[in-house]
Amino acid sequence: SVYSISVLILAYLFGSIPTAVWIGQAFYGIDIREYGSGNAGATNTFRVLGKKAGIPVMLIDILKGWTATNLAYFIPMYMVGNHNSIVFTNYELAFGIAAVMGHLFPIFAGFRGGKGIATLFGMVLAVHLQAALLCVGVFIVVLLITRYVSLGSIMAGFTYPIAVAFVFPVSIRAVVIYGMCMCVLILVTHQKNIERLLKGKESKVNLFKKKAT
Ligand code: G3P
Repeated sequence: SVYSISVLILAYLFGSIPTAVWIGQAFYGIDIREYGSGNAGATNTFRVLGKKAGIPVMLIDILKGWTATNLAYFIPMYMVGNHNSIVFTNYELAFGIAAVMGHLFPIFAGFRGGKGIATLFGMVLAVHLQAALLCVGVFIVVLLITRYVSLGSIMAGFTYPIAVAFVFPVSIRAVVIYGMCMCVLILVTHQKNIERLLKGKESKVNLFKKKAT
């Protein structure tokens, strides 16, 4: 319906908020996309501007995905049945994906955004809490061991479909299919990182230092 398409557009607009670009411009006078990895995301904001900028970018980007996904609650009950239904879940997935697309291709920042990890995380948090927490666990373990954020993101991406298919099996197949697509999407957005990882040239984070450059 026209109403659900309007909400879908709203979800895309939420995702389009280019947090890293705007915080970089407003408080540091720089375009984050010209520094570090060139990515307009939380990781690169941590890398270039430190945690005072990185933490808010991360939280807001997570919130974008979470909020957009929860816009499904604005779809009237007669259309979704109940909040455990397949239809409702499909709305959640559609709005979450719209937000991730907004994050990747933000209308407010020349369609050059980030890689979608924080926004995807916000989305999975809204769809399946336990699977989301398992992904965070994997992300943190990989990060602590290797100090590569990108590798942590990729491994968390693989974890999600495995989690919803086998660890906490969900009855709604769309969630599993979406999880697999998400994993592929992460591989696509991290192509440059994968090349650098294979060459041993990916930048590592200094987890216990104040500012990494
Ligand atoms: O969250 C994105 C992360 O996985 C990679 O970011 O800046 O190192 O390319 P970056």
